[in-house]
Amino acid sequence: MKICCIGAGYVGGPTMAMIAKQCPDIPVHVVDLNQARIDAWNSDNLPIYEPGLDEVVKEARGRNLTFSTNVDEAIAEADMIFISVNTPTKTFGIGAGRAANLEFIEKCARQIAKVSKGHKIVVEKSTLPVRTAEAVKRILSSSGNGATFDVLSNPEFLAEGTAVEDLLDPDRVLIGGESPESIKALCDVYAHWIDRDRILTTNLWSSELSKLTANAFLAQRVSSINAISALCEATGADVDEVARAIGTDSRIGPKFLKASIGFGGSCFQKDILNLVYLCEHFGLREVAAYWEQVVIMNDHQKQRFSERIVKTLFNTVSDKKIAVWGFAFKKDTNDTRESAAIYVCRDLLRERARLTIYDPQVPEKSIRAELTAACSDMQGQISENDKRLIEQNVTVVSDCYEASKDAHAIAVLTEWDEFKELDFDRIFQAMQQPAFVFDGRNLLDHQKLSKVGFELHAIGKCR
Ligand code: NAD
Ligand code: UGA
Repeated sequence: MKICCIGAGYVGGPTMAMIAKQCPDIPVHVVDLNQARIDAWNSDNLPIYEPGLDEVVKEARGRNLTFSTNVDEAIAEADMIFISVNTPTKTFGIGAGRAANLEFIEKCARQIAKVSKGHKIVVEKSTLPVRTAEAVKRILSSSGNGATFDVLSNPEFLAEGTAVEDLLDPDRVLIGGESPESIKALCDVYAHWIDRDRILTTNLWSSELSKLTANAFLAQRVSSINAISALCEATGADVDEVARAIGTDSRIGPKFLKASIGFGGSCFQKDILNLVYLCEHFGLREVAAYWEQVVIMNDHQKQRFSERIVKTLFNTVSDKKIAVWGFAFKKDTNDTRESAAIYVCRDLLRERARLTIYDPQVPEKSIRAELTAACSDMQGQISENDKRLIEQNVTVVSDCYEASKDAHAIAVLTEWDEFKELDFDRIFQAMQQPAFVFDGRNLLDHQKLSKVGFELHAIGKCR
């Protein structure tokens, strides 16, 4: 058995590294068109930051794990080919802003059809609209080389920041397919380290749809608690207390009830919008509207937070310095895709605030690129005004102390653990007075900070 994976991103890289680590008998070849990404996977400076990932890669790389840009060669040699390419929201044409752009998936399928000989198992690892396997199968069956294929759906449920833990000890592995032999072959790979009773098998369509559904349910919980946070702020209830009170009901459960400035990440919004598009396509308008509300609520939460900052700072942040702590979409990742921080920063910039941004893992280049994209239209056009604001009003610094010096306010946008351990007396002394903290993650010790002298504003808590 030889494995190849097309796409060396946040999923392809860690997933294949874990398979290679756990299955020393299986050669695993990860390929990508992006040379810089492949070079990084082959270096000591991996392209993604994930706790524990360095060790996993180091153990397997050079033994049975290889990274290269030799896509054709890797496909030709493999018995099992994972497709783990990006499936972003379409930004053009039919379904723009909602449907998944399946261009990259289709190109992979065509490449596999062109290069393959003999029999191959093709595994959809990317998150896809239900029934994508049908199109993949059609394209594969047009292979002129007499090759034959089985298509499986094996969606990935890892979360960034805990990818290694999630891969090592997943709640379940899901495999959808038609051919019992191919399903068994993939089960055998995972069974190297995962109990068989945690490997679920379904038909192809259930597997594809379960992935979109899982993300929709998770995001819905975040939007639900965030909706309640607004009511808490209006009534004097405390959202953390409400979350604890409802989370102890075993039917509800305690996870994913942390109120925040809104969910981010490359997938929740994209996958829900994709679900909405599918429902609309099948004429299920009410169902589409139900799920779309999860995204609408999330946008509202981000906007509510930046508006609260402006209102609290005497209705103007123009020329005020705001220290932004954290830019990644959650802690323990350098990923900024769809991070709520982007939109909060954009709104504050448009109010002419001066932002000093610190994130322990996100480089300045990514911060500026994200802000530029958020200020641009679908065609990538940005106004001169927004461009100037990003150039002149954004400074990226290397620690929280520097970020907060002379600041009027601190906005905590990512829940990095290191933010809890700072010398708040020192920070307070160096700030403009009154010194405000807007804790968008309910991360800090609010009582302690109030004692230091800060005026605290937190999500879902009244002052
Ligand atoms: P990513 O953008 O980090 O990586 C995708 C990679 O595929 C890129 O490096 C790109 O260069 C490469 N690629 C695209 N077309 C290619 C081609 N034709 N040949 C070779 N390489 C090609 O994306 P990601 O975050 O790894 O997500 C991949 C898929 O997994 C998506 O469908 C996503 O929804 C899903 N997913 C992501 C996560 C996550 O935590 N990021 C979790 C579960 C599922
Ligand atoms: C999510 C899912 O958890 C994974 O199972 C899934 O595989 C993945 O999407 C995907 O398909 O891409 P991820 O986006 O990496 O994983 O991270 P999460 O931990 O789910 O957090 C998503 C966002 O929700 C973050 O911005 C986080 O801060 C926010 N969140 C999460 C909250 O605001 N409150 C919570 O209680 C939980």
